[in-house]
Amino acid sequence: MSPGKVLVTGGAGFIGSHVCEAYLSDGWDVTALDNLSTGRATNVPSGVTLIEMDVRAPELNDVFRDGGFDVVNHHAAQIDVRKSVEQPRYDASINIDGLLNLVECSLAFEVRRFVLVSSGGVIYGETMDLPIPRSAKKHPLSPYGISKLTSEYYLHAFRKLKGLEYAALRYANVYGPRQDPNGEAGVVAIFAQRIRDGEELIVFGDGEQTRDYVFVRDVALANVLVTHVDLPEPTGIDDVAFNVGTGVESSVNVLANTLIEISGQEVSVKREEARPGELLRNALDCKETNALGWVPTHTMESGLTETYEFIAGTTS
Ligand SMILES: NC(=O)c1ccc[n+]([C@@H]2O[C@H](COP(=O)([O-])OP(=O)(O)OC[C@H]3O[C@@H](n4cnc5c(N)ncnc54)[C@H](O)[C@@H]3O)[C@@H](O)[C@H]2O)c1
Repeated sequence: MSPGKVLVTGGAGFIGSHVCEAYLSDGWDVTALDNLSTGRATNVPSGVTLIEMDVRAPELNDVFRDGGFDVVNHHAAQIDVRKSVEQPRYDASINIDGLLNLVECSLAFEVRRFVLVSSGGVIYGETMDLPIPRSAKKHPLSPYGISKLTSEYYLHAFRKLKGLEYAALRYANVYGPRQDPNGEAGVVAIFAQRIRDGEELIVFGDGEQTRDYVFVRDVALANVLVTHVDLPEPTGIDDVAFNVGTGVESSVNVLANTLIEISGQEVSVKREEARPGELLRNALDCKETNALGWVPTHTMESGLTETYEFIAGTTS
């Protein structure tokens, strides 16, 4: 598809703002839609039109009628796993109702492709068979994981029923500049801010739990790529789902030590009791995404250095 008009929901957020930048660089006319609940207007790159609106709003219809979007890229979400456990209906109202509002508008105004952001961190659940292929069994263990997986099923159904083309991106642990260090998730941003402020790092459990850390600008490029590629007629949700990670497991201990080393600061590490329900290991097998021509170009060292420098240059 040649560059046209794209609507990026959650475009004022951490990942969405980088996705806006990547579309701009690829020649797209970019509109960001965000209710600024966790995002910030200052994150939105210049050249992008920001519409302050909730994805559940009835007025979304007017935005689509006026916008003439070729592509919808859906990043807006309730992203807090613990909040989803405490308030599952709130999670579903944003992550399911909001999605369906967007789907209805996309169908009504003939959007050509829908890029859905899912999560390879929560939909597969615990497995020792790593890295996890996209075809692995899905065992979401939180309402947030259920809402992400359900979103994939909805889009698959609307592909079959109404022909809406879509791709789903299943992210690993995304990190980089503009991640909110005050949120629940985002261990890299939390650690980097604490190191900057000379505060001890808190590691839950033995710190040997692993994650697949992928740099945000690499993730943004995967979004542009799946906007352009030919997609198969899916026979199930996995056929058009793409894992977005490095395939490498890194422990929280390694992450903490690498960040401390990069910063040159002396910071101690305090251990606290393991959090119940926390996944032990995660890394994603991205071979289908790699086959599209996407490979992450940032090493953990280069990505963490850029992230630390960004956070060190800000104040809380
Ligand atoms: N950060 C990660 O490691 C990670 C991993 C897997 C998936 N994801 C997904 O990536 C997407 C972006 O996450 P992020 O880490 O950038 O978080 P973020 O909180 O920075 O971004 C979410 C954005 O959506 C906006 N938003 C929230 N509810 C909204 C609503 N009802 N209407 C309109 N806008 C709304 C927020 O204001 C924010 O700008 C989410 O869909 C998240 O589930 C993130």
